[in-house]
Amino acid sequence: MKILMVCLGNICRSPLAHGVLEHLVKEKNLNWEIDSAGTGNWHIGEKPDGRSIAVAQKYGVDITNQSCRQFDITDFEKYDHILVMDQNNLSDVLSMASSYADFRKVRLFLKNGIVPDPYHDDSQFEPVYIMIEERCLEIIEEFGSNR
Ligand code: 4NP
Repeated sequence: MKILMVCLGNICRSPLAHGVLEHLVKEKNLNWEIDSAGTGNWHIGEKPDGRSIAVAQKYGVDITNQSCRQFDITDFEKYDHILVMDQNNLSDVLSMASSYADFRKVRLFLKNGIVPDPYHDDSQFEPVYIMIEERCLEIIEEFGSNR
């Protein structure tokens, strides 16, 4: 199973989803490959935002080895699921899809709703972390049974 997490900057939300799911997958000895990318190009090559690094650290997840990259059309071939954080990410990624097979790999990370962008609000990093962690636990169950 190969899963790609996508947000706008690839420095706040998708690195958390990437790090948390990767951590859970390792704990459960699953042979899944997790990565993340941004639709934007502003932070390519950078580490995640210090506030994402700090909140992940608080919950025992190390995301310091991640490096920001931009989403690319070749990602449609490489991944089984492309999970995006909000509606803008959804339309940006879908606008690059070139087949129904591409299109159907893409969906919102949360089942109902979006993960808000915490970039301009320090107080949002912990609530965002918690919603991401809860959804990652569900994803292990859901995608593990091949849905
Ligand atoms: P992210 O947050 O999409 O969760 O990584 C953002 C980070 C940076 C910017 C926007 C959103 N930015 O405009 O630089």
